[in-house]
Amino acid sequence: MSTIVGTIERINGSLIVAHFDEAPKIGDLTEVGDLRLMGEIVRLSGETAYIQCFEATSGLMPGEPVTDLGVPLVAELGPGLMGRIVDGVQRSETELWELTGPFVSRGTNIDPLNRGAKWKFEAKVKPGDKVEGGNVIGVVQETVSFEHRVMVPPGQSGTIKSIKSGEFTVEDVIGELETSSGVVPLKMMQTWPVRIPRPIKERLPLEMPLMTGQRVIDTFFPVAKGGAVAIPGGFGTGKTVTLQQVAKWSDADIIIYIGCGERGNEMADVVAHFPELEDPRSGRKLIERTVIIANVSNMPVSAREASIYMGVTIGEFYRDMGYDVAIMADSTSRWAEALRDISGRLEEIPAEAGFPAYLSDRIAQIYERTGRGVVMGEGRTLGSLTLIGAVSPPGGDFSEPVTTHTLRFIGTFWALDTDLAYRRHFPAINWLRSFTRYMDVSARWWSKLDPEWEASRSQALRLLEEASEVEETARIIGEKALPDEQRLVLLLAEMLREGFLVQSAFHEVDTYCEAEKQTALLKVFIEFYSKVDPLVRAGVPIEMVRNMDVVTELMRLKERAGVEPIEEASKAILAQRDALAEEYEVKL
Ligand SMILES: Nc1ncnc2c1ncn2[C@@H]1O[C@H](COP(=O)(O)OP(=O)(O)O)[C@@H](O)[C@H]1O
Ligand SMILES: [Mg+2]
Repeated sequence: MSTIVGTIERINGSLIVAHFDEAPKIGDLTEVGDLRLMGEIVRLSGETAYIQCFEATSGLMPGEPVTDLGVPLVAELGPGLMGRIVDGVQRSETELWELTGPFVSRGTNIDPLNRGAKWKFEAKVKPGDKVEGGNVIGVVQETVSFEHRVMVPPGQSGTIKSIKSGEFTVEDVIGELETSSGVVPLKMMQTWPVRIPRPIKERLPLEMPLMTGQRVIDTFFPVAKGGAVAIPGGFGTGKTVTLQQVAKWSDADIIIYIGCGERGNEMADVVAHFPELEDPRSGRKLIERTVIIANVSNMPVSAREASIYMGVTIGEFYRDMGYDVAIMADSTSRWAEALRDISGRLEEIPAEAGFPAYLSDRIAQIYERTGRGVVMGEGRTLGSLTLIGAVSPPGGDFSEPVTTHTLRFIGTFWALDTDLAYRRHFPAINWLRSFTRYMDVSARWWSKLDPEWEASRSQALRLLEEASEVEETARIIGEKALPDEQRLVLLLAEMLREGFLVQSAFHEVDTYCEAEKQTALLKVFIEFYSKVDPLVRAGVPIEMVRNMDVVTELMRLKERAGVEPIEEASKAILAQRDALAEEYEVKL
């Protein structure tokens, strides 16, 4: 491979314009200047290349050399990623910090995957076995919580000529593959260009919900494994906390956390905090099955722009092993702003709010990489990739381009609400503005647990909707002037809000709510309504209903472990209803 060399003509922030003698290739990585900074060719005009630098460009001078490395930005995939924190171009943050301190010196090129580390490889194939791209040739217990499955790289196929178990580095030859075009060495490491989706054998319809233990999500606005979610919200509405709750409690096997440049100190917080999180599945640390992509260092926007592709590619790699992977991106707005910045420097014609006209296509391309299906390789298993993207619209205005375009490509929308957050109703997911397109998947799953689930859910949502209409009227004429049946609807909505929708991430018990408890809890509220509504209609004053002991009890059930307290509360409803009926001589 011959490298193509050019010289810097102009420097405009992170954008370098360079002239080459022979046209280089768009998308190729380059080394820029005497410092050999890393960059990517984002546009070509004849022999002139526009290069986005992944590092600060101060001090670069026109006339310095530029080298086209002849390869696009790739992810290095293999053992050694799990539990790590890497930046948008996959340099290990921790290693960089150790090398240079928090202010990473430029041109520090370290290999994404550690070349020296040895891994215990256990072969799972034998000579003579026929394999193709995706087939597992062996495993490495990478962390206590994670079995790394070493796969034949996509596109290769043939017969195993040799294979050995033992301790190897990612570059050591662990076997040989006899292909139609000769013998190729097998290694634990492979690479993949981040902007190209990794292939999947057969896409399948989504079938399972991703359970998160968060009631408003699982019960009202669920996401399917392999689905796509947007969580838009203004500053302080709970995007980061929600993503972390899902990371911690969801039943995904692998978590990829992309912090694409939310405020620097916030990212530093994630980096400091995340490794401490307990993994409720294993009792160990969550980080043992998590990869974090975070630009904590002082890297320019292009590294931020790349980070989302890096994260998705790493996610696809684990999906290909046959895992359920969930990616959290916080936030895609920062990624889109990076895109806008780059487009501006390229002097492209801006569309809405200064974003390039291709914003929508780029958002689509990212979300299209989600899904579920049969992974590559002969006779393989299923894998899925779920993507949950936070969106931070300026001023919390959902009509801005990033939010509106994202809406077209996702299946679940968790609309965070500034008013709810202000009233400390968390998660501040607005139940009137949010939606899910995965109800069929979810309903099928829940119905096995509880045949009445769908009816309870619809009735709860109906009550909440009705309450918001009644509230409108109440604002005009005052609550006391409403008929008691309507005031009961308001009471129910309040109970559902406090007792079901509000769920503190920081409460010892309530931080997670298992499915059995979710449906039992939902049903007990519906049961309460169906038991007291006839009383109110028969003339029992709403105040008497409100004062039933069981009302406050119901609202606190969420804080008690298990479903037994709910069953007891259900009995209490009946007893207290009967007492009221007797007192007011209501015949039931
Ligand atoms: N589920 C939750 N339970 C309890 N508190 C929450 C929850 N979600 C958000 N909060 C509160 O809101 C604050 C801001 O949330 P955060 O996720 O940082 O907002 P954003 O990322 O949208 O700016 C948190 O520090 C916390 O106090
Ligand atoms: Mg945040």
